[in-house]
Amino acid sequence: MDHQIKNLLEYTNDYNKSIIKPDQFWENIANSFHWRKRWEKTLNWNFDTPKIEWFKNAKLNLTENIFERLLSTHRNKTAIIWEPNDPEMSPIHISYGELYKQTCKFANAMKAQGIHKGDRVIIYMPMVPEATVAMLACARIGAIHSVVFAGFSASALADRINDCQAKMVLTSDGNFRGNKKIPVKSVVDEAITKTDTVEKVIVLKRTGENVKMHTERDLWWKEALEGQSEENIAEEMDSEDLLFILYTSGSTGKPKGVVHTNAGYMIYTYYSFVNVFQYKEDDIYWCTADIGWITGHSYIVYGPLLAGATTLMFEGIPTYPHPGRFWEIIEKYKVNQFYTAPTAIRALQVHGTDHVEKFDLSSLKVIGSVGEPINEEAWHWYHEHIGKGRCPLVDTWWQTETGGIMISPLAGITPNKPAHASLPLPGVQPVIVDTDGKELIGNNVEGNLCIKFPWPSMIRTTYGDHKRCKETYFSTYKGMYFTGDGVKRDHDGYLRILGRVDDVINVSGHRMGTAEVENAIDEHSDVIESAVVGFPHEIKGQGIYAFAICDNSKKSNEILQEEIKQLVRKIIGPIAKPEQVQIVSGLPKTRSGKIMRRILRKVASKDLSNLGDISTLLNPEIVEQIIKGAGLK
Ligand code: WT7
Repeated sequence: MDHQIKNLLEYTNDYNKSIIKPDQFWENIANSFHWRKRWEKTLNWNFDTPKIEWFKNAKLNLTENIFERLLSTHRNKTAIIWEPNDPEMSPIHISYGELYKQTCKFANAMKAQGIHKGDRVIIYMPMVPEATVAMLACARIGAIHSVVFAGFSASALADRINDCQAKMVLTSDGNFRGNKKIPVKSVVDEAITKTDTVEKVIVLKRTGENVKMHTERDLWWKEALEGQSEENIAEEMDSEDLLFILYTSGSTGKPKGVVHTNAGYMIYTYYSFVNVFQYKEDDIYWCTADIGWITGHSYIVYGPLLAGATTLMFEGIPTYPHPGRFWEIIEKYKVNQFYTAPTAIRALQVHGTDHVEKFDLSSLKVIGSVGEPINEEAWHWYHEHIGKGRCPLVDTWWQTETGGIMISPLAGITPNKPAHASLPLPGVQPVIVDTDGKELIGNNVEGNLCIKFPWPSMIRTTYGDHKRCKETYFSTYKGMYFTGDGVKRDHDGYLRILGRVDDVINVSGHRMGTAEVENAIDEHSDVIESAVVGFPHEIKGQGIYAFAICDNSKKSNEILQEEIKQLVRKIIGPIAKPEQVQIVSGLPKTRSGKIMRRILRKVASKDLSNLGDISTLLNPEIVEQIIKGAGLK
């Protein structure tokens, strides 16, 4: 693999080069790619506006860098191995040559349905190869994809369609998940009633259930492909043309559309993929994420395919038909690199090691973790029982906004330290700041994590609202990108991520905004006000704990609690459903009327030590009531 670091000395050298001469460092990597026109300036940036341009004025098409660049050597190599939900069903192996044809064909089909460069296309699909083909086809014709996790509700989907004014939705009739069949098309139908931009819906037949097709608007995937050519001349894209929008939650308001652009994202996902996982030409790589999240975008689809890797895509869930399914798949395909989330590890750990020992995991070379801080117990279990103590474990810290892995060991190169994301990748300049924005130098310091210099795959804007991008990421600390995470640099200079310092809750590696959940709860006609916090959860990392004031309700607390849970599930989706709902008669507020979440977090965590000074509250007496109501006294 080009540009693959081989040892710690090389890492240190490359890291230093990337800091001293970032332009040269990234140009050298970019030179291995195929450009229709070379860039005029490598980097143009300003974190105040903010404005970030990489490989300015260059022209390219990302898919030409997967196909045209690699086909002469990779035509018959497997690009995607697809393992269906049902282990009895046949898997699918798609070669680079075949993936190329399918991408071109679907690109032509979308064009025939009126999609042009710059149009937004929503992908709301299960984990099937067609979803990857759809993403690549968008990139091929310059349409901007926005993948929405197929577990989101109709109203969450409608919000995203409206925000990006999508012209097309790609979906399926249904979705197999474990022993369940989940309706998908009907959710799309419901969402579209709340929108007015969608002109066409293309529907893949997956579960075969009956769906209603709207004659003018809907067509089957197969029909759309009929008569389309397997050749397509890729659209010429500017480096900074939008590649995709991916919605993610923040501390305030509705989810925002994080924007990634073509060239920088391409270079960085490639580079980080080959270095973190140390992928070698014949390896089988498997990331268990869903393509609805950034991990799926960068490390199932783009990074691996740009490296000519074989990437495994799994439709199902870790516990179906048995809790050894992951390990069975590793044995079946002789997986070499395995990348999953701590929540999955913890969930499988509960089932014991018998399910692991049944399978041969000797093919594994690297195991990875992503999405949330990995606790030491899970780290050791994963390392010992899955990695058999011999595979390096890469704990990769990054975000939707960073586009690619930022802080992580490089497999087999960086010495492993449990629960530490460890060291920044070349090109990444993390800084730790205190609440005043003062940089904390040296080791044994703890504070907020910022990045002080641009990297190629960083967020460019939040779609349709640049001011929000500036306020969210570039205003807390002047001249720096603020991540929202707390971090500690230990005595060796290794970084340990401590989790969010803002009002974002991380449930099973998925980000939920407190405001978003509160808004959903407030839709309940009996709810006067609500507040949501996270609390430590054994499997999910964090769970959602909601406090709601329903003073004049005629319903019992039990009924209200259940209704509130179901309402959130309906408005956002099952992943946002609160674990706990406590009906309260008031919320602790500061004199300026702000909810003191710190106190609520303490109650939710059942930890009443260091409650702090509550005498400055507008209503200190409420704290005692809430504590009692939670059954803590
Ligand atoms: C947030 C980003 C990056 C893809 C999946 C999540 C947390 C992510 C780690 C890690 C500790 C982590 C952070 C971050 N996070 N990876 N290895 N150690 N925390 O993407 O939904 O954008 O969430 O996930 O809090 O800010 P996301």
